[in-house]
Formats: sequence, structure tokens, C-alpha cells
Amino acid sequence: MTSTSTSSPGESPASSSAASSTNTAAATSTNTAADWWRSAVVYQVYPRAFTDSTGSGVGDLAGIRSRIPYLASLGVDAVWMSPFYPSALADGGYDVDDYRAVDPRLGTLDDFDGIVTDAHAAGLKVIVDIVPNHSSDRHEWFTAALAAGVGSAERARYVFRRGRGANAELPPTEWTSLFGGSAWQAVGDGDWYLHLFAPEQPDFDWSNREVRDEFLRTLRFWSDRGVDGFRIDVAHGLAKDLSEPLPVGPPLPRKHDGSDPLWDRDDVHEIFEEWRTVLNEYDPPRSAVAEAWVPAERRVLYARPTELGQAFNFDLLESPWTAEAFREIIGRNLDEAAQSGASSTWVLSNHDVVRHASRYGLPNGTLLDPWLIAAGATPGENRTLGLRRARAATLLMLALPGSAYLYQGEELGLPEVADLPAEVLQDPIWQRTGGIRKGRDGARIPLPWTSTGPSYGFGPAASELPQPAWFAALSVEAQEADPHSTLALYRSALALRRSMDAAATMRFVNCAHTEVLHLVRSDGWESVTNFSLDWVPLPVGTLALSSRPVGEGILPPNTTAWLRSV
Ligand code: GLC
Repeated sequence: MTSTSTSSPGESPASSSAASSTNTAAATSTNTAADWWRSAVVYQVYPRAFTDSTGSGVGDLAGIRSRIPYLASLGVDAVWMSPFYPSALADGGYDVDDYRAVDPRLGTLDDFDGIVTDAHAAGLKVIVDIVPNHSSDRHEWFTAALAAGVGSAERARYVFRRGRGANAELPPTEWTSLFGGSAWQAVGDGDWYLHLFAPEQPDFDWSNREVRDEFLRTLRFWSDRGVDGFRIDVAHGLAKDLSEPLPVGPPLPRKHDGSDPLWDRDDVHEIFEEWRTVLNEYDPPRSAVAEAWVPAERRVLYARPTELGQAFNFDLLESPWTAEAFREIIGRNLDEAAQSGASSTWVLSNHDVVRHASRYGLPNGTLLDPWLIAAGATPGENRTLGLRRARAATLLMLALPGSAYLYQGEELGLPEVADLPAEVLQDPIWQRTGGIRKGRDGARIPLPWTSTGPSYGFGPAASELPQPAWFAALSVEAQEADPHSTLALYRSALALRRSMDAAATMRFVNCAHTEVLHLVRSDGWESVTNFSLDWVPLPVGTLALSSRPVGEGILPPNTTAWLRSV
């Protein structure tokens, strides 16, 4: 065995905490440091599908608050809540009516404050979602823009343009929305407004100073309430080149050099530099993570210390299940993070993609993009294989330097619910593509907490999005009784991770088998993943944890083991 690439994420020192022998480790040295976010494990809650305290069929803030002991026992460092703001739910809450309020169906600001208080008492940080590319069409600014009419200052906060044709009956350009259909909506007086997502999500014009100031107010509002960090939705979309005349044709293939008219423009970074000065007004400075679906070399720009600090790295999420692909992605991302001073982030699942336990059950384990899935497609999923690989992938991810983002339910090994009937689908992708694409509802089914009850412990009544009967066997209750469950694996892994040195670096070790990925951390921890179908020798070391039972010195296929160097 010879060592190859060495990667350091440039972590600033954070003392390692003592090995935790219980599942309830709370405030750790990592969590109290100002740069806690660099190595944090963050748990994403999709509020409407987490816990329903009232029986409305929809999850709420009191429900989230009631689960804080569960999150602490899981061993995560922070909870990120997807939008809980007032919304007509045209896009699952990413159509925000009011950025500084709570949807009355989900609770009140007092309920929110209760979450912050309890989370902090349990040693958990709180991250909220900011949606700056667009508001909802019910936002008071948008209502005012419609009322104020053509050429008004109110319309200048959004992107309004005259339609083409003798009666302005054609959209200003042929640009298409990411959810399907035209990206323009007529308002009846010759003006059309831009919506890169659903028509209920009008895009802001970020060259307008009022828009910029409004979001600085929102950052301060939540920071003042004790929020520790922010997740920035569609961060790569805010800056746009809307200079006249707009190119009428459909958007050309995206340019990745900062000069694309709509995405990932160089001038977006001045917006986030301004945000950073606001986030740094707080002690400790508030953290931020960009959602930016851009190439790795562009992603690090958002994650510079002078901007957001982190940007989701979706490369693993999009990767095929091969040692070579994982090795290349991990090495490259750690190198890039080290160069930019950012912290690397790792993600395998979120509310926008097919859950990784299902992706890995596909023949080649590649991304099954729910934005593109044809309705009725039967992907030929192998659930046993999918879960086996998902557990192995998670253990590998949690051994990497940097921070990791988990999506609610992945700790239960939940697969996608692929067979939802058409009449319950809520994702605008389904509607906007005329039922051609299925959308993301299958990853947003309310969690099963118990094995019985009208919604398996999600709430006192049935849930709005129906749960399948097989959720019973995957419930928290069922898994708590099983020491080999996926929940038990996550708890053990997160407890062990607390004993790792957040400042550690890692290197890969070449293995005889090309489908085995063996990494050695500078703090004496090792992780070895067997991507192959062969049984391979386990490297020498003390076995601490494995994603599947390991034989005498033998690592089974699709398995990760954690070792302590001897
Ligand atoms: C982000 C969100 C996604 C939403 C979109 C538009 O990608 O994660 O759920 O539909 O932005 O806001």
C-alpha cells in the first residue's frame, strides 16, 4: 500500500471531544466554537412532513419542537428547517408570502422562539432557509407591483417587461421555467413578469437597492431571534443581466465562466459579500450555506470566507456508485476547499432528489433525477441493495473532513415513495409538465415515528400526503428496538464522529482492489468502503463500526467499515 493524494480542508483548530459512549451527547467542543459549522452534521427538517402536533395532516413548529430530544439523541449538531413562512404552497413553501413571519397553519413566532430555546439547550444550532431569488405572488410587494401598474417603482423590485407582438400578447423572450413552460407570465396590461420557477414565484430584480436592503433586514430579523445560520436557496440565480434588448430566443446552453445572463454570474458575489458583513455583526458570526448547482470550481466562490463560508457540494449525490468516482470527488473537493478557505460540505439526500436508499438500488446507482423522472416510470429498484449501499455511503461521508447534511428520514433508510397516486401529487413540476414528470413528492412523505396509528406517529390524524403501509416496519419505534437498524447505525456513527478531530486531514491509501476506497485520517481513524461485489480483506486495525456485519478480517460487498489504526 502506498499513500497518494493528501487533502486538507484547511480546518481551523477545534479541539476534539472525548469519545461519547452514550447516544445523547449534546454540546460539544465543536458546537461551542465560533466555527462550529465547519465540521457540523446538519439535519434537514422539511417542516410539513416532520411532525403534526394538531391533527391537521400537515407538520408544524410545535411538532418540530417536540422532536428536539430525538434530534439530540441522534447526535447531530444542528437542525436546518426548510421554509415555514406563510405560503400558498405553490412550491412546498419555497413561495414565500412574508419572510419574517410563521405560516399560521404551522404555528407562531413564539413557537419558533421555543424551538430555538430548546434546541440551544440541547446543544443544537438552528439554521433557517432564505429564499431570495423570488417571493410568492402573494407577497405584499408583488401585490403592490400589480396594483401600481406599468413603469412603477413597485414593479421595479421584480422583473417586469413588455410583451412582444402588436398587443404584447407574446412573452418578452422564449425563456423557459425550470418547472416547465414559459418563464414569463402576463399580468393583463401588456407587462409580463419573469419566474424562473413556478408562476407563483416572481423573480426579484437584485439590481434594485430596495430588494437588497429588504433581505439584509430579514437576515438581521432571524439572527436577532437567535438563529445560528442560513441556507440560501438558489444562490446562483440572484444576479441577472437584464439589459435591453433581451435576447428573445430560448436561453443558450449555460455558460460557466460567470457571464451567463441568468445563472452563476460573477456579479452575484458582491451581494453575498454584503451579506457577510451583516452576518459578521453577530457574535459568533452567523453561518451560511449556498444552494448553488454550479460546477465545483465555481461553487467555492460562494463559499469563500468573505461570502457565505459554505456551499452545498452535490457531487457525491450525483455520483455513480464507484470507488473511482467517489475518490475523485472527495479529493477534488477537499483540495478546492483548502484553497479557498471554505469548509467542505457533503450531501447524499435532500428534499429535491430521490432518496439515496432508492438511487443506490438502481442497476448502476446513478442519480434518478425527480425533476426529470417520467411519470409512471418503474426504475427497477432493488431495495436490499439500495439500503446496503446507502448505509455504506453514509458511513463514508461521515468519515470525511468538513460538514455533512442529512435529510430527515435517511436515518431510517427510507426509500422514495415511488407510487403516489396522481391526485395527491403537490409538486408544481407535475402540474407544469402536464403530468409528464412526476416531481419530488416521493421524498417528502411524512416520517413514520411509530408502527401503528393513523399516520404512524406523524400526528393524531392521517397525513395529507399518504404514507405507504410498509412505513410501519421502518418507523423510529421499530428501529429503536433493533440494534442493527439504520437508526442505530446513524446514532453509533454520529457518536463516534464526536470523538474525531474536527481539524484532521485525510489521505487515500492505494488498495489492491480498485473498487475499494480506503482513507486514513490524521487523527488515527480509517474508513474503508468496498464498492465491489467481491469479499475483500479488511485492512489491519481495530474495527469500530461497519455498515453491515463484517466477517473475520473480511469486508463484504457494498460495505463501509471504520477502523482505529493500530
Ligand atoms: C430550491 C429548493 C427547491 C425549490 C426551488 C425554488 O432548489 O430546494 O425545493 O423548488 O429552489 O425555490
